[in-house]
Amino acid sequence: MKNYSIAIDGPSGAGKSTLARALAEKLGFLYADTGAIYRTVGLSALRAGIDPKDEQAVAARLPELDIELIHADDGLQHMILNGEDVTEQIRTPEVSMAASAVAAHPSVRAFLLDTQRDLAKKHSVVMDGRDIGTVVLPDADLKIFMSADIQQRAWRRTIELAERGTPKPYEEVLEEMEQRDRDDATRDVAPLRQAEDAVPLNNSHLTIQETVETAEQLIRERLGL
Ligand code: DC
Repeated sequence: MKNYSIAIDGPSGAGKSTLARALAEKLGFLYADTGAIYRTVGLSALRAGIDPKDEQAVAARLPELDIELIHADDGLQHMILNGEDVTEQIRTPEVSMAASAVAAHPSVRAFLLDTQRDLAKKHSVVMDGRDIGTVVLPDADLKIFMSADIQQRAWRRTIELAERGTPKPYEEVLEEMEQRDRDDATRDVAPLRQAEDAVPLNNSHLTIQETVETAEQLIRERLGL
């Protein structure tokens, strides 16, 4: 049977993971959160006392990293770093910044490319990230480029952090998000950009349900599912 792939790209807080998870569940596809993989590399650099911006130092450690992506019975994607489940630990603001820094290194992106492509070879996937439609899965059956106003995205992230028990003032979240948007969009390698054949989906004024319904409509049209 053919494996289908749906690529969802966009800036942080645009609602990619919420949409991707909902679609994966409805379609019976695997949800692959590629940001979590970069976060795991970022965490490992921080733990080793390495500056995530130092490409040479980060790259030197890559061969020692054993990163596994497991889909557990709870339906969630768990990240395993050298045998330890770090799914929770990779969600702090510090790790967000470290992930953005390591993601700018060509050596890190090259190292993680096969891991991501292998997932799509073995399973039907809904994969979210920044360069899925442009680099990782250029032949995806459907590409969606999500966006939302930055104030809206920062607000969503503020709520998410509070719910996790790690609250942070909205202004700080907004500032960090602006910084990360800038870094992700202006880096030399695989910058965040919309693939030419991606369908834009701005959900600033859509509820989660409306966003999912819009995407489902696209899937019916494109994949006939
Ligand atoms: O989606 P996220 O916030 O969990 O991603 C964390 C960082 O990883 C983000 O700053 C950009 C980077 N990233 C990337 O460069 N390419 C991807 N495919 C996914 C994430």
